Amino acid sequence: MIVHSLADLARARGRLPGTVAFVPTMGALHDGHRELIRWAGKDADHVVVSVFVNPLQFGEQADLERYPRTLEADAAICDAEGVAIVFAPSVSDVYPRPLEVSVSTGRMGRIVEGEARPGHFDGMATVVAKLFGMVRPDKAFFGQKDAQQLAVIRRLVEDLNLGVEVVAVPTVREPDGLALSSRNRFLSGEERSTALALSRALFAGRDAVPGGAEAVLAAARPVLEEAATAEPPLLPDYLVLADPATFDPVEPGHRGPAVLAVAARVGATRLIDNLPLEF
Ligand code: PAF
Repeated sequence: MIVHSLADLARARGRLPGTVAFVPTMGALHDGHRELIRWAGKDADHVVVSVFVNPLQFGEQADLERYPRTLEADAAICDAEGVAIVFAPSVSDVYPRPLEVSVSTGRMGRIVEGEARPGHFDGMATVVAKLFGMVRPDKAFFGQKDAQQLAVIRRLVEDLNLGVEVVAVPTVREPDGLALSSRNRFLSGEERSTALALSRALFAGRDAVPGGAEAVLAAARPVLEEAATAEPPLLPDYLVLADPATFDPVEPGHRGPAVLAVAARVGATRLIDNLPLEF
């Protein structure tokens, strides 16, 4: 069932007995989203999916306008996956008036991806808090692909006691390693070949784990440098080895979990990817 207004959502949600798993999305659903929905379905009595392109988390107006909107196809995927409610509100449903109160994600929201996209994590966390309030889920499912988003949401839930269990779902990749993303559809064939350097760099880093944190970065970096000379070139934004809970860069000699995260542009498309590692 697809609902648009908050009133219809509340009515439909009220009719769902048992536990509810929530998959918030911005639509343009692909197999990575299907995986989130499947995990959610195994873990609760009902799944609710939201489809909402949140203007608050976009820096550039052009990027917001360019974001793919494919509600009909998204609803068909949700139907096939047995989703109970697809919540597809309009901007004025979610933001009926300018916000006076919103979420600040602090330092965590300003570093790494947050440095490249000022305001992004505040806007993302604000809409996630609002969607949690609207859907009232028991659990919510997020992709590991957006590792810093996941870390910020875990912290949001803890710091504001939102009472939702956050579940991370591993990244789904094409057979050649490219992480699935709604933005992949913008890549030409040549751009896609160049973009493979992101996952290649991460896999090279993973192979170097026995040598420690510095060896991981030293193995991953040249892959990006070589791709920067390709045609079309990769324009790397960052490559970091970070604490998965805070996204602070880890120290040399680090022991324990870490996430190797990369962002780069190919043509007009900005891509991110990461791999969780254990030292
Ligand atoms: O990951 C996304 O698609 C978005 O950031 C989210 C979590 C749906 C919030 O708009």
